[in-house]
Amino acid sequence: MRRAGKSATTTDRARPIDRQEAHEIQGFGHVTHVPIALSESVASQSVENLNQVLADTITLRDLYKKHHWQVSGPTFYQLHLLFDKFYEEQNDLVDTIAERIQMLGGISLAMAADVAETTIVPRPPKGREEAPVQISRLLHAHEIVLEESRSMARQAAEAGDDGTNDLLVSDVIRANEKQVWFLSEHLVDVPLVKAD
Ligand SMILES: [Fe+2]
Repeated sequence: MRRAGKSATTTDRARPIDRQEAHEIQGFGHVTHVPIALSESVASQSVENLNQVLADTITLRDLYKKHHWQVSGPTFYQLHLLFDKFYEEQNDLVDTIAERIQMLGGISLAMAADVAETTIVPRPPKGREEAPVQISRLLHAHEIVLEESRSMARQAAEAGDDGTNDLLVSDVIRANEKQVWFLSEHLVDVPLVKAD
């Protein structure tokens, strides 16, 4: 760490001490003890599980923004708005999950490169896709999040981590199920003007 020298004159005191460096105070993967009446092994398991849900939720959130920008066709306006609404809802979940990880004494994933290494949601192409393909991609990502969240919620309940169980059930699972409903109704092939 670089410090201002003792010999600095009063005219130097306004200078910002920038480019400071030091060792990390907690390594990724290490769970520190916090007094919330949970054993370190239970907290560690929840942290590991929640980081997986976090990586997949960040990826799903970003898929919504990609599709918000790149959607096309006669349903452009409603999908443009819907995708952004769900982006915001997923963004709220990202913050809730990440803060739960910190609350448990863990370290939440944060940066794109680390998220990309961890997520199991398939990477989409950089180019544009048709709206039904965008929706199918989103539905697949939701199903990944739902499947892992249900099994992790059961695991948290059995281990006595009720807070993590509640977050996964009340926040993650309920929000994802609702969004799946809204999306999947767009893939029902019914006539727009004249009944069959
Ligand atoms: Fe926008």
